[in-house]
Amino acid sequence: MKKDYKLPDLKLASNRTGETKKVIFEISDEYKTLGADKKYFIKTHGCQANQRDSESIAGLLEDMSYSPAKDETEADLVLINTCAVREGAEDKVFGEIGALKRLKREKPSMLIGICGCMAQEEKTVEEILSKYHQVDIIFGTHNITSLPKLINDVLTANKKRAVEVYSKQGEVIEEVPVTRFASHKAWVNIMYGCDNFCTYCIVPYTRGKERSRLLEDVVKEVKQLKEEGYVEICLLGQNVNDYGRDLKLGYDFADLLDEVAKTGIRRIRFVTSNPWGFTDKMIDCLARNENVCPYLHLPVQSGSNDVLKLMNRHYTKESYKELFDKIKKAVPHYAFTTDIIVGFPNETDEDFKDTLDMVDYCKYDNAFTFIYSKRSGTPAARMEDLTPREVKEARLQELNQHVAKWANESMQKFKGQTVEVLVDGISKKNANAYSGYTVENKLVNFTGDDVKVGDLVMVEIEEAMSFSLKGKMVSKVEL
Ligand code: SAH
Ligand code: SF4
Ligand code: F3S
Repeated sequence: MKKDYKLPDLKLASNRTGETKKVIFEISDEYKTLGADKKYFIKTHGCQANQRDSESIAGLLEDMSYSPAKDETEADLVLINTCAVREGAEDKVFGEIGALKRLKREKPSMLIGICGCMAQEEKTVEEILSKYHQVDIIFGTHNITSLPKLINDVLTANKKRAVEVYSKQGEVIEEVPVTRFASHKAWVNIMYGCDNFCTYCIVPYTRGKERSRLLEDVVKEVKQLKEEGYVEICLLGQNVNDYGRDLKLGYDFADLLDEVAKTGIRRIRFVTSNPWGFTDKMIDCLARNENVCPYLHLPVQSGSNDVLKLMNRHYTKESYKELFDKIKKAVPHYAFTTDIIVGFPNETDEDFKDTLDMVDYCKYDNAFTFIYSKRSGTPAARMEDLTPREVKEARLQELNQHVAKWANESMQKFKGQTVEVLVDGISKKNANAYSGYTVENKLVNFTGDDVKVGDLVMVEIEEAMSFSLKGKMVSKVEL
């Protein structure tokens, strides 16, 4: 069979040509009833960018008259939105695709689609095409708006499979329909892609060139969310400090944050601000806007200058600490979290000790810690790596002990305090309790009466553990 698609190509995906250009999406009439009487189910892996993409995918499907299924067994279309950041994430997806084979045998009309970051990797797409015949549709992170056409190809044009996985360098697509999965907090993309190429990371290849949305488009979306009753928004970008750079319109992330704050939306968060390009203007902006939540995720990755250099991170342990101290001085009430990788190729005991020192210096409120995972096609994958797995695992354990100690300490100061919590729903741990987050992003489980999702409540904290707080509701905040 002649191939009518191009496989993704990591080398091509590392091109950084082309200007940012805005494209307005419109769904073609012929696709609007394709999903009538049919149900869809989306399983989402990975980061917030993928969560938000799944909401666009759901929006597109509902514009095609599909309705949501409660799980994959009642779905006519199952999509897995995948993550490629570590091997473990990929293994999980292959397991899920395997499990869907049985379901499809029972219901041959069911369509299975794979999308997200794994769909931008050449070797993964080849593997799916050759070994997983149950998969009908594959589309990449750049090709989400082609989904209606791809479904049409399989359903009505009798194509065996529909594949679209090529990178588009500079496109920002606006007015894509969206079905948000929550009614109280929302993700808002401010930019796509990443131009940093940290040597361990696959994201610049799977998400493509850095491109920003226009400031007025972001502000318009936030205003609308506020009108719809949303209490919290989170601005998303792989490296928000770079916001606006590609547009050359004279505004940057601090300007955007000021404008978003002016909408008066109650809680504003953002991820990820990296430890370079974090300007004094941004620090001033945090200090002056009270609706920006006092919480900063500042990924350090390693505390060793040698490793940071090999990782292509643009800072040293000294300059990171300097920035950290400067921010802490300007906004002392802020909570800080970080990401750390242990076992980067040839990380020595000395390097690892520098990382522990960094954790003890910054006393993070929490840290997301990972063992380095080799991603083929990235520069680090070509580095010699002689450190045994057991050594890496032991390092991770030791690191986690340091992290837990400071996490616990940061929690203790909340004991006896009354804090504002935005309610997410019933607690995962206790069916008679609720849970939600404080402005500092602390998880709170609490008891109370007449509480619903999206309520803002005041909770008196009775108990503080390393990674969550426990308390009882004392009042509701009028919204
Ligand atoms: N753009 C964000 C998120 C990147 S992915 C940022 O720059 O922070 C989230 C985290 O996954 C990274 O911060 C890093 O700690 C981890 N990560 C990325 N690639 C990895 C790899 N190959 N192995 C292990 N952890 C990795
Ligand atoms: Fe990956 Fe680095 Fe870009 Fe973050 S900044 S997405 S870690 S390449
Ligand atoms: Fe994973 Fe892609 Fe996000 S690799 S972390 S889903 S950008």
